[in-house]
Amino acid sequence: MSRKYRVGILGATGMVGQRFIQLLVNHPQFEVNAVAASDRSQGKNYGDACTWRLSGEMPAAVRTMPVQPPAPPLDCDLVFSSLPGEIARETEGSFAAAGYPVISNSSAFRMDEDVPLLIPEVNHAHLGLLERQKTKYPRGGFIVTNPNCSTIMLALALAPLHAAFGIEATIATTLQALSGAGYPGVASLDILDNVLPYISGEEEKIETETTRILGRFNDSRIDVAPIAVSAQCHRVNVADGHMAAVRVKRARKVALNDVREALRSFRSLPQELGLHSAPATPIVVRDEPDRPQPKFDRDAGNGMTITIGRLKPDSVFDYRFVVLSHNTIRGAAGAAILNAELLVALGHL
Ligand SMILES: NC(=O)c1ccc[n+]([C@@H]2O[C@H](COP(=O)([O-])OP(=O)(O)OC[C@H]3O[C@@H](n4cnc5c(N)ncnc54)[C@H](OP(=O)(O)O)[C@@H]3O)[C@@H](O)[C@H]2O)c1
Repeated sequence: MSRKYRVGILGATGMVGQRFIQLLVNHPQFEVNAVAASDRSQGKNYGDACTWRLSGEMPAAVRTMPVQPPAPPLDCDLVFSSLPGEIARETEGSFAAAGYPVISNSSAFRMDEDVPLLIPEVNHAHLGLLERQKTKYPRGGFIVTNPNCSTIMLALALAPLHAAFGIEATIATTLQALSGAGYPGVASLDILDNVLPYISGEEEKIETETTRILGRFNDSRIDVAPIAVSAQCHRVNVADGHMAAVRVKRARKVALNDVREALRSFRSLPQELGLHSAPATPIVVRDEPDRPQPKFDRDAGNGMTITIGRLKPDSVFDYRFVVLSHNTIRGAAGAAILNAELLVALGHL
């Protein structure tokens, strides 16, 4: 077997960075070779800089790695970025300019015209945008982003429906987990016995990213999908697993059973290619009246399957459902790793 790609993780000590490290243990194609974080952590060993907040032990291979500044050069073939949005633009841009492929979680480049906002099952054709980055980054670097954690589950749920029946409009009301705010995130006194009806920038991200993801690659640009998207976001007292109550107005009349079947039978390129992180079933539909629930359904498909339930006709729009996904796996680190696996399979890495 050919050698593994050596990866650097920017923001390696954070909630998403730790997921990257956990998911990359024994990965067949990637091995962590460099970790970077803020000046609070730089110069320390990863084991001293990072308080491990996932279940299980911190993987032994990273404990003694020095935490470096998030700036090139790093001893790796590509970087995964989970840096805060405010600093990601300059940092990720400098890695791409220095010749590194950058597979990013952050929002910094998501809406740039020449940057694929990628969900491998939904819009792999958008990778055609990479051609445009070749002149911008002559040393061979490029940037590919994954969408916002709530957008991913919404776009993945809508993709088979839009392809089969067309969607005119959708309304998503989210219930988002605490780990989505990073660490330490929301103060316990703000969220215990409470729901916060505001997550900065989140509603705008869902509304703009969804139409781009469901849009078509047209020569060298994306024609956004003509879908009206309305989102309202709430932070709730759940550790992991974002939910959304979704209502959909379809373009063509369709029976609910056909909607269910389109969701259930959805498979795409990652499943055909047998990518390591691709779940056999990207969407599970549950018929019990009280599912999905974060506690029971977030780990479906090793955190890469989204779960849909409460699928019913809607008296205002056409039909409605509740969707759930693991926000730091399908919504962040797992999404970026799947993106990288697709880039390898298609010869971009
Ligand atoms: N959490 C989620 O569910 C989720 C989902 C999708 C996307 N995202 C995105 O992923 C990114 C990371 O989120 P997170 O939840 O992992 O946040 P987090 O827990 O706050 O971690 C932030 C990471 O960035 C590092 N960092 C902070 N300021 C820095 C600076 N000035 N220079 C260099 N490194 C710096 C931190 O290092 P220190 O430990 O040294 O401070 C830490 O490693 C964000 O852009 C977020 O929007 C998160």
